[in-house]
Amino acid sequence: MKINILTLFPKMYDGFLNESIIKRAIDKNLVSINIKNIRDYTNDKHKHVDDTPYGGGAGMVLKCEPIFNAVNSIKTDKSKIILLTPEGKKYNQKLAYDLSKEEDLILICGHYEGFDERIKSIVDLEISIGDYILTGGEIPSMVITDSVTRLLDGVIEKESHLNDSFNNDLLDYPDYTKPRDFNGLKVPDVLLSGDHKKIDEWRHNEAYKKTKEKRPDLLKKEKIRKQIGKYSLIEDDEQKKIYNINISSSYSFTPKEKMKKEDLIGINKVILVKPSFVEAIAKKNINKKMDVLLKQISIVLNDETDDEGANYVLGEIDRLEDIMLKNYKDYLTDEYINLLKNKLKILKDEINLKKMMKIETVEYERGRHR
Ligand SMILES: C[S@@+](CC[C@H](N)C(=O)[O-])C[C@H]1O[C@@H](n2cnc3c(N)ncnc32)[C@H](O)[C@@H]1O
Repeated sequence: MKINILTLFPKMYDGFLNESIIKRAIDKNLVSINIKNIRDYTNDKHKHVDDTPYGGGAGMVLKCEPIFNAVNSIKTDKSKIILLTPEGKKYNQKLAYDLSKEEDLILICGHYEGFDERIKSIVDLEISIGDYILTGGEIPSMVITDSVTRLLDGVIEKESHLNDSFNNDLLDYPDYTKPRDFNGLKVPDVLLSGDHKKIDEWRHNEAYKKTKEKRPDLLKKEKIRKQIGKYSLIEDDEQKKIYNINISSSYSFTPKEKMKKEDLIGINKVILVKPSFVEAIAKKNINKKMDVLLKQISIVLNDETDDEGANYVLGEIDRLEDIMLKNYKDYLTDEYINLLKNKLKILKDEINLKKMMKIETVEYERGRHR
């Protein structure tokens, strides 16, 4: 995907583009983010981009000419042109998903008092990030770029954002990590039970409880129309259309393709119930994670890395085992699970052995120099 940002303040993006997940996505060519200085597109020899408002009043208004020039010089047939403005459509996760399916976005940032109204004639969509006024569209453009980029294939693990807040109109379930007991604050027992079905149920209930308490407005949008055993048809309150069929204890994901308007029923979730197909997907995901892990282990075993590296990989091994048990246990045979568990145990033993040998070598060296 390509995201073009038209701004008067390109330097504001230096940190944003050069850190963390956004930087990695750019380095891996999963997204290309181009910052264009609006001032470069003015025909005015003094490079004026704004002027006083007709009719009088406070502040300066962005002129049509540089924005029209900039958009005309970069737009393609695929471009979606977006104006950042407090009066636009309120931004949310659903809109982020929709934009992540586009190939080319052009985000126009206003500044000062605002922009000449005629600029709106060349935009496809106006977006506001909330009911408050910022000094310019730069931060809103970063909000959109960040939230859209993390949804692109390969940027973060799909599982991470499928359970994020606002997916399926629920807030995220509560998360816990090690230690099990932190100053008397304990991790709920169910999460340590290894019972994948119970954990799923608990998470769904907690997410529902949290949403009901903090954001009941999200729940109003859908209602269960029919419950037949483990199947439920979920109806969209606003559109009066069934948009989801839930089947408990099945494997679900959000389809990549954007729903077409003329489709009778929009699909925002696909549920796989054929066990052999789910098993194949589960194994493919585990193999992918195993490949990454083996590369990390080989570095730890062959290089003189410090304990931090070894501890990190030990944590990753635990994490892979957790993922297998939490997400895929129901779709894999006991034989496959035990085999993978044994493999992971052997790898853990190897790393622990390497750590011990290193301690012994250090102590021996100390003894020689005494
Ligand atoms: C100071 S604001 C102008 C506000 C304008 N006078 C009004 O009352 O609507 C300058 C620019 O910041 C951007 N901006 C400010 N708040 C925003 C928001 N909540 N969402 C999107 N863009 C915003 C817009 O591009 C806007 O043109």
